[in-house]
Amino acid sequence: MITIPEFVQNLVPYKAGKSIDELAREKGLTKIVKLASNENPLGPSPKSMGAMSSYINESHRYADPLCHNLVQHLSQINNLAPEMIFAASGSDAILQYIIMTCSNEGDELLTSEGSFIGWYVNSDKLGRKSVKVPLTKDYKYDLDSISKAITDKTKIIYLANPNNPTGTIFSSKELESFFETVPSNVLVVLDEAYTMYVDNDLDFPNGLNYLRENLIVTRTFSKSYGLAGLRVGYAFGHPELIKSMFKVKLSFEPTSLSQVAAIAAISDDEFIRETIELNKRSLSMLRDKLDSLEIKYTDSAANFLMMIFESEEQARKFTIECLNRGLILRHVDTFGIPEGVRINSGTDEETEFAVEVIEQVWELIN
Ligand SMILES: Cc1ncc(COP(=O)(O)O)c(C=O)c1O
Repeated sequence: MITIPEFVQNLVPYKAGKSIDELAREKGLTKIVKLASNENPLGPSPKSMGAMSSYINESHRYADPLCHNLVQHLSQINNLAPEMIFAASGSDAILQYIIMTCSNEGDELLTSEGSFIGWYVNSDKLGRKSVKVPLTKDYKYDLDSISKAITDKTKIIYLANPNNPTGTIFSSKELESFFETVPSNVLVVLDEAYTMYVDNDLDFPNGLNYLRENLIVTRTFSKSYGLAGLRVGYAFGHPELIKSMFKVKLSFEPTSLSQVAAIAAISDDEFIRETIELNKRSLSMLRDKLDSLEIKYTDSAANFLMMIFESEEQARKFTIECLNRGLILRHVDTFGIPEGVRINSGTDEETEFAVEVIEQVWELIN
């Protein structure tokens, strides 16, 4: 009999939110709204759909391993040398490649509790040691404490800005002070999956303005561009690091159709504008309802917010009762916040449904 290594046996697999089909099957519900995975409620960028239809008869060809065209487009719009750009099947895959490229089994990776579960899963599955610093009381990254936790063993520091599942951000000044404390042999990963949702009025650092040898910035086409199912992520970093990551990447990802879709999405300004407007409208409706019910929530700059309950039990009950009524939310206990339930923005109709269900369930459980 084969033996599965102990660290694999002990892995807690990534648990995605319930799918609409799954819930419909289980509960026999006819109306189901899923606001659990921070997806774009408007669907995929229309330009991407057009580009994929035109390209579909080229699907017998392997994808370009170096993602040349996609990298060129990203280089132009970000005004950055192509050698500093990497692309793979989602930023989740990129996080894995960063860990594989820059650390060895047993090395320490430092981050925050209450942050993106994908980072934790990738660290654990590659047998790295995760060191996690608690969030502040208002659910923000505690950059000072993360600095203090750096040791000789620290190889990589992961920061998500905005953070998932809280949506909270740190400012340019906070990031600058943080960088001063990080030794040059420690790589900082700045995960900017939700950067396009952040309001221009906020003091929010664009990672591209801070590029240095020991920084890599990751982004994704999954959220604002609406391409989560196609799996395209990208990253900006030092050319040596990017070159090494291409050695580690599975050759033919992202798929050729996904690369074509991503290129088209980049120029879909109208879609991005609508996405951002809808997000603001939906979150504002949600916040109004939560305020009126006196349910606490985080100060989020992304396309979701995290409701804060009095206990894990209350958060779980709330999530289950919403589910029973066709509203899929995400209890974020596995992210390390047992009292948190995340909800993302929806279409106007989805948001109206969500606020109705939230009100009903809140009355029921109180
Ligand atoms: C902070 C953060 N980083 C990365 C990802 C992964 O995105 P992708 O779909 O590009 O793998 C997510 C997805 O939820 C996320 O929230």
